[in-house]
Amino acid sequence: MNWSELPELGVGIGYREPFLSKLFDCRDSIDFLEITADHYFEPIDSKAAELDLLANNFPLIPHGLAMSLGSAEGLDASYLKLYADLVNRLKPAWCSEHIAFTRAGGIDIGHLTPLPKTDATLRVLHDNIARLQDAIQTPLILENITDTIRYPTESYDGAEFLGELCDRNDVGLLLDVTNLFINSSNHRFDPVEFLHRLPKDRIVQLHFVGGYIEDGLWVDSHSRATQDEIWELLDRVVRFAEVKGMILERDENIPDLQELTTELEHARAIVERVRATPGA
Ligand SMILES: [Fe+2]
Repeated sequence: MNWSELPELGVGIGYREPFLSKLFDCRDSIDFLEITADHYFEPIDSKAAELDLLANNFPLIPHGLAMSLGSAEGLDASYLKLYADLVNRLKPAWCSEHIAFTRAGGIDIGHLTPLPKTDATLRVLHDNIARLQDAIQTPLILENITDTIRYPTESYDGAEFLGELCDRNDVGLLLDVTNLFINSSNHRFDPVEFLHRLPKDRIVQLHFVGGYIEDGLWVDSHSRATQDEIWELLDRVVRFAEVKGMILERDENIPDLQELTTELEHARAIVERVRATPGA
């Protein structure tokens, strides 16, 4: 896959139902939408109509939650079919999932859970990614999550692991800038040094949003306006890689959509400034 050939989608937002009433008032600020794929599996009539409305008016990127690419037991065949049917129907520029597991031993744990950064994990991911890619005719990009736990026997650090993942699979990266910032703060490493060790040609899309600090640790809450530290890191990412799209990912404490468009304009201004002064 030549990742540089993907279309440039611009700046958009993760679609949530409360946004619908103002979505068209804010149309000029929203280049594309990311939708949660799982919300449109076997949809009731109102969700099917909503999907049609969104697809007829915006470029859409489906973002899956529960493929559980890190499950050693393999993918769930019925979930895979639902995801693939949606992707194959929408024919998006790309689609995305997380580098995580949400299911183990047949039990759905209902949470994006970090994987041990080992060769065994990379082998599991390789098998599951191949099976997913066989089912979709769409470029696949994978997202870094927050490392709420770390395992004692890891053979790779975070950047090495993402590099190995890209070396062994034809996947792009959905770099969640907020998750990178949170991991760097909570686990005390330099996020820019980490960034510069990633395969920059694979960084296709970004996520950003604000979190909060509790008991000295950043929480990935998707609940606050993007903080200055995260904007600064996003600026560094845009200087490093030619990203094709970025998505504001607000899930909690949702304000009026018009308030969020100021964040979209901020992101757009960063891209324009970086492109106007390359190398600065
Ligand atoms: Fe994210």
